[in-house]
Amino acid sequence: MPASSDISHPDVPNPDVIVVGGGIVGLSIAWQLQQNSISAVVLDKALGSGASHAAAGMLAPVNEAYWGESEVLRLHLAASAAWPEFAAALGADTVDYHRNGMLLAAFDADDKTQLAHLHELHQQEGLTVETLRSQQCREMEPLLSPSVQGGIFSPLDHHVNPRLVVQELLKAVTVRATHVEQVTGNCVTTSDGQTLSCGQVVVAAGAWSGRLLDLPVRPVKGQILRLRGEPGLLRQPIRGLIRGASIYAIPRSDGEIVVGATQEEMGFDTRITAGGVYELLRDLLTLLPGLSEADLTETWAGLRPGSPDNAPIIGWGPSGICFASGHFRNGVLTAPITASFVTALLQKQEPCIDIGPFSPSRFVSATSSSWRDLQAVG
Ligand code: GLY
Repeated sequence: MPASSDISHPDVPNPDVIVVGGGIVGLSIAWQLQQNSISAVVLDKALGSGASHAAAGMLAPVNEAYWGESEVLRLHLAASAAWPEFAAALGADTVDYHRNGMLLAAFDADDKTQLAHLHELHQQEGLTVETLRSQQCREMEPLLSPSVQGGIFSPLDHHVNPRLVVQELLKAVTVRATHVEQVTGNCVTTSDGQTLSCGQVVVAAGAWSGRLLDLPVRPVKGQILRLRGEPGLLRQPIRGLIRGASIYAIPRSDGEIVVGATQEEMGFDTRITAGGVYELLRDLLTLLPGLSEADLTETWAGLRPGSPDNAPIIGWGPSGICFASGHFRNGVLTAPITASFVTALLQKQEPCIDIGPFSPSRFVSATSSSWRDLQAVG
């Protein structure tokens, strides 16, 4: 662990680490560092208001497994295994954490073919799933349309309310609401012209990481809805394949149901569009017609941080900056394990799994001039 350097701002007491980015990943890192007696300050202009505020909180490595992403699946399974302890530390009820699995339902015959293809992946990877007939799906979730052709239940998937997680983390870590303009390995410059020094800078700025460092991270827009009904109206977290489209509906204990999400390459655009909301509601009510009387309480759009290969970027970069970004569709799932990776790296220990495949170095040639510029700054 590098020693703290001179501090330069009275509000921030000589931190060992400055974490740039106050979403669930950055806050989890600061929290984990604190658990290991490493002082950390999180800087973000709008703490907790990015992708973490939009996210549904699916912790579903099996339900969301895709062909061709074996490395990412390994990471997601390890990340999933870290969640029960993390949720318990924050208070499982406090963050509305549940371990009741997730159902992937196929609406029509083509969707069922897609489901069968995914099941081959589950079998190849040795994942725990149960295949269900139409009637079994409806027994599990009575709101499902009778047209549903079948499903796959992944009993080990779980879910959480990310807004509550962020709320709890914000109580537990030191934060400062400020916009960071520039970073090096051991100092950051804020938009009000202050330079803050520390032993180590960690960049966990989600979709904005690319703007800060010319890192190849892009925003991937997701429009998402929140409905409300009686608690228990929707019993089961569900992802549906509906005429080739995909949708999910995640129930909260208080009756809220989070419905997502579009996936749009629109840059830093967070407009809610009529078309986006229409598609979500159309697919939702096709799959779960019984939700048509629920209140529509919120429309929102967030920006997922995508990398060129859609895998996260975690580890050391130029100028000794530590990166924890590019978590794409799985920032909530991977926040606790990312925090443990960063903590291990800063303590010069081996992370609990091989994070070589997620190293920033895999993008060095693609961005070499930017990385060289960064070295010069550092
Ligand atoms: N993990 C769900 C989403 O990104 O929409």
